[in-house]
Amino acid sequence: MPERARLIGETLLRVDRVGSTNDLLRSLAQHGAHEGTVALAREQTGGRGRMGRTWASPPGGLWLSILLRPDDPADPRVGLAAAVGVAEALRRVSGAEVGLKWPNDLVLHGRKVGGLLVESVPPWAVVGIGVNVNVDRALFPAEIRAVAISLAEAVGAEVDIEEVLRAVLAEVDEAHAAYRAGRIDDVLARWRRFSVTLGQPVRVQSGERIIEGIALDIDADGALLVGDADHPPTRVVGGDVTVLRGGGRP
Ligand code: BTN
Repeated sequence: MPERARLIGETLLRVDRVGSTNDLLRSLAQHGAHEGTVALAREQTGGRGRMGRTWASPPGGLWLSILLRPDDPADPRVGLAAAVGVAEALRRVSGAEVGLKWPNDLVLHGRKVGGLLVESVPPWAVVGIGVNVNVDRALFPAEIRAVAISLAEAVGAEVDIEEVLRAVLAEVDEAHAAYRAGRIDDVLARWRRFSVTLGQPVRVQSGERIIEGIALDIDADGALLVGDADHPPTRVVGGDVTVLRGGGRP
């Protein structure tokens, strides 16, 4: 079988400091950037997280965004596939058992080591990836310090950030190719394997709603199914999950 051409990272723009790599890439897309382009910053001054949060992005972390053009840029499985790729990459490089908290938080020892912010800008999906590789936790604001961890802290040594970059681009490329080729079951199976949410009692804040129950599974569309013995599962398409016990923070 002929080898598949690599999509992600053939064009890589490195900047020292930027507001947000997602915003940079969005504007590059408006000026003709092609699919697979990556924007990478040493530091972000206006890093953004999910749910309108700010994302502290001092030097030492991996802050990058990838420009993709899937059939449906708003499909949440684009983010799930990318998260699988990032978790795979971090595990391979560091040996640490990085897990996933729905939808695409990267967790280690019950703390957050990274996350993904996927923004649909039709026809584009901008996949923003943040990983606390060698970030000194003292540089984080106090409320984040309490729930965050860096990869270096977990493994007890500096981690080669260029190696992490190469692994992330390669693994996200592979996972996204599987998604695009329709191998969704394979992507979701890999997501389930890395999940620290499934089987745990959770509280989900989804808009104005709070849903509590056991995180039973994700369905074929990537929605989280939350239920218990007495009630049919509730299908959650977006929100913030807190694992109530056993899984610990965050
Ligand atoms: C989250 O868990 O809330 C998502 C965090 C995503 C952070 C990354 S860092 C690179 C890209 N640029 C941003 O402004 N955000 C994402």
